[in-house]
Amino acid sequence: MENNRGSFSSNLGFVLAAMGSAIGLGNLWGFPYKMGANGGFPFLIIYLTFVIFCGVVVMCVEMAIGRKTGKSPVLAMSQLGKKYAFVGWFGVLSATLIMGFYSVLIGYSFRYMFGFLIQIFGASGFGGMDGGAFFGAYTGNIGAVVGYTILTFVLCYFIVAGGIEKGIEKFNGIGIPALFVILIAIIIYNFTLEGSEQGLVFMFTSKGMEIAGTEFNFLNACRTAAGQMLFSCSLGMGAMITYGSYLDKKENISKNAWIIPAADTCAAILAGVAIFPAVFAQGQSPNAGPGLLFITMHNTFTSMGFAGNIVGALFYLLVIFAGISSAISLMEVSSAHLIDSSAAKGKPMSRKKAVGIIAGIMMVLAIPVCIDKLGGAGWGIYQFLGEGSKDLLDLYDFVSEGVMMPLGAVLMCLVVGWGKGMDWMADEIETQGNKFVTRGFFTVCVKYITPAMMLFVLISLALSYVGL
Ligand code: PFF
Repeated sequence: MENNRGSFSSNLGFVLAAMGSAIGLGNLWGFPYKMGANGGFPFLIIYLTFVIFCGVVVMCVEMAIGRKTGKSPVLAMSQLGKKYAFVGWFGVLSATLIMGFYSVLIGYSFRYMFGFLIQIFGASGFGGMDGGAFFGAYTGNIGAVVGYTILTFVLCYFIVAGGIEKGIEKFNGIGIPALFVILIAIIIYNFTLEGSEQGLVFMFTSKGMEIAGTEFNFLNACRTAAGQMLFSCSLGMGAMITYGSYLDKKENISKNAWIIPAADTCAAILAGVAIFPAVFAQGQSPNAGPGLLFITMHNTFTSMGFAGNIVGALFYLLVIFAGISSAISLMEVSSAHLIDSSAAKGKPMSRKKAVGIIAGIMMVLAIPVCIDKLGGAGWGIYQFLGEGSKDLLDLYDFVSEGVMMPLGAVLMCLVVGWGKGMDWMADEIETQGNKFVTRGFFTVCVKYITPAMMLFVLISLALSYVGL
């Protein structure tokens, strides 16, 4: 590429970075619990249906838009038509909002990793408190929470400011293989524990609903699976447009579009197999949200005795790798926008400066999430979200994951499928002799199936908010 935006050095570098974006906190804490609480195996089938008919399709559409235009979401979409620029803006706004809470959760993970690490050397990492007590004390300690959040931002800043090849590609080249190695090591250790098979029963059979106290509801399972799939595959918000804009023309987009969601789904299932067997073997009960990742896992590792300190430190290191590799893609979406738009105005901005500004804006959004103490501060400005939504984190998540990402995904499909036409997309995929082998499948999906499925989910989600 002859401009100064940078590029990935190889297809493997790109695939690992895209996998890094996809595999994150969503896989480690969202998927396994949602699967258990929504029917187990039937949920997996529904989830896979969404991956194939929506995930793979939107992934391909985004990568094609990114590589064809060579631009970040706003400029890329406006290159397809001035009136489509707002779809790109959805992406930039979603990325900024998601980072506003994602960074706080990665910060928590740093605190837990250090806690278990120093316990290996005999110090007390959690002041002798159990999972629940420590979590309450820690989230109430604004100074510590802000401090660890800043640590997350500093690390992400250095990686993203380092550039595509020397920062993002390099981090993922080490981080993603390391993540799978740690995941498999933890799984092997967990299966030596008595009673661990109950974790698989929770995840894969209908007994999970009994344990979680839920009932199978097809519509609910579809909504849950669709939202989870978009978030987990980093879709509908331009992350893959941005990464795609750094991909060499000779690489095969339609093949990559299958590999990345497949790896993301494998990682989500493996994460469940790493978490629930240990939870059940240690007599803990599975539970959702940050509570699972922090309170339950903390208690689980503590009850393993000394070995728990090692497994615990490794587990939170895994969460950090997964979290940072996703967070840097969030930072890249908004930074790339600043870099591209300032260049378009004839006032090019250096990558370091752009990333610094974006990190600053994202941090301004993250600080209130730290101060809100997961709703503990009692601000209550999010009551309109209804029962179960109690904090600023939920609000950010609702606006991004619940509204802008599904809308973004539908609009991108409609713009490409109907606005530009499938020849436009095929032309990009087939450049330099690549085959668009599954063209028939993609055509039907991009134009009809994917928008219909996503619209159905969006409407049913909206109805669920008004109590229907
Ligand atoms: N895919 C990430 C996860 O599963 O945790 C979250 C995410 C990262 C969403 C990057 C969107 C994105 F652009």
